[in-house]
Amino acid sequence: MSGLDYAIVLAAGEGTRMKSTTPKVLHSVAGRTLLGHVLSAVEELSPKNIRVVVGSGRESVEAHIAQISPKSQPIFQERRGGTGHATQLALEGVAASGTVLILAGDTPLLSADSLRQLVKAHNDGGFAATVLTAEHPDPTGYGRIIRDDRGDLIAIIEERDASEVEREIEEINSGVYVFDLKKLLSVIGELQNKNSQGELYLTDVIALLRKKGDRVVPILTPDFIEILGVNDRVQLAECAALMRDQINDHWMRQGVTFIDPTTTWIDSSVELSVDVLIHPGSALAGDTKVATGAVIGPRTTLIDCTIEAGAHVKESYCTGAKVGQRAVVGPFAHLRAGADLASDSRVGAYVEIKNSTLGEGSKVPHLSYVGDATIGVGTNIGAGTIFANYDGLEKHQTTIGDHVRIGSDTILIAPVTVGDGAYTAAGSAITEDVPSGSIGVAREKQRNVLGWVLRKRPGTKSAEVSESSAKKGKPNS
Ligand code: UD1
Ligand code: CA
Repeated sequence: MSGLDYAIVLAAGEGTRMKSTTPKVLHSVAGRTLLGHVLSAVEELSPKNIRVVVGSGRESVEAHIAQISPKSQPIFQERRGGTGHATQLALEGVAASGTVLILAGDTPLLSADSLRQLVKAHNDGGFAATVLTAEHPDPTGYGRIIRDDRGDLIAIIEERDASEVEREIEEINSGVYVFDLKKLLSVIGELQNKNSQGELYLTDVIALLRKKGDRVVPILTPDFIEILGVNDRVQLAECAALMRDQINDHWMRQGVTFIDPTTTWIDSSVELSVDVLIHPGSALAGDTKVATGAVIGPRTTLIDCTIEAGAHVKESYCTGAKVGQRAVVGPFAHLRAGADLASDSRVGAYVEIKNSTLGEGSKVPHLSYVGDATIGVGTNIGAGTIFANYDGLEKHQTTIGDHVRIGSDTILIAPVTVGDGAYTAAGSAITEDVPSGSIGVAREKQRNVLGWVLRKRPGTKSAEVSESSAKKGKPNS
């Protein structure tokens, strides 16, 4: 237990600089929204209550909160009155005492560890307020930290309201605070909007607490990266790149090889195992799991996929698929939802598979569409085979047995079943079941019209070579 009664996340801002129809906190990095990252870190501290101040894009933000953090309580701020005003709203109806953490919804890199340390320092010290600060080489835009001789915090001065000397200060306010709730409640009503923005600044409570003789302590984080906020799309990309590096570093330390970590994007939700190898240009997203010894890429996208040990997926796009042990997929395969490839199976170039199981050791090596099918073990699907699963109204099922040989360019018109060990002749349009052990032949018998080229295409190169072949007595002329 962190000894935390309330966490308040301020997320009502418009995010004007994003220039987006999506509320800022719903933009994503590493497959999770900015707000999702913040709430996930906050939830690790198990606060008794979480309140999120929402405003701009209220409906979609509230719906998102209900989905990702159902125990968080949204508080509506109708008009932007400043961080102090947002906090006043969030404090309505809270208990009279306890500890409260306040932070913004647009700082996705903040770790639960840093929050935990801040809460601990606050509770151990018994301060009125504890503020997370950082030294930033470019403090532009941030509130500046004014300390006294003892190192305590005297005030936070916003950039817009700072003097030239104050602007030189490189220690900045991260916007993450822990307060003694009782002390915060005693001053929060005294905030005034006498500043350049005409807003109530939460930062002004620091000076108010000091005036009452309470201790406010800044805690300097060694790493300013954690406190970076997202205000525009440039910062969104910067945060995404930093998080990509963090995630990739983590997996490399866990025994995963990245040939090029800078072009490999792994969502925070993905799980990788020891000795996975990832080639450049790959993106792994959602509920994807990759087992030991599997090789991914180059240029492969996996969304919600399970890749088993020793499998290799190259140059492919896969969603909702399962790839069994040692199976080989690609290059240029498209696996869709419900594609389930058993161990040692093989899916080759320009093959699309949807809602189908491919048995152990079976192969679909070239240029095929497989939809709504069950394929047994040791079966080979010839090049260019199409599972015609859709009659324009409904989808139908195809069942292929074990050790079947489907000839090249077969069309399997579902619903249809091909029995164990059966064959189909190349170029067949199979509309009826093929019993086990038989060959299904469904194509026109070939006829050759002798001399056709000489009669119908006289004077062409084809006619010329046909004629000289005939003279030499070559067959088939
Ligand atoms: C704030 C701090 C600044 C600090 C910086 C760190 C104040 C006055 N300033 O500045 O000292 O260095 O964060 O990133 O607090 N919000 C609301 N309702 C409002 C206004 C803001 O919910 O009426 C939310 C925003 O959505 C945002 C957070 O509060 O998530 C911070 O607001 P923002 O306008 O981004 O403050 P900064 O100018 O960045
Ligand atoms: Ca901000």
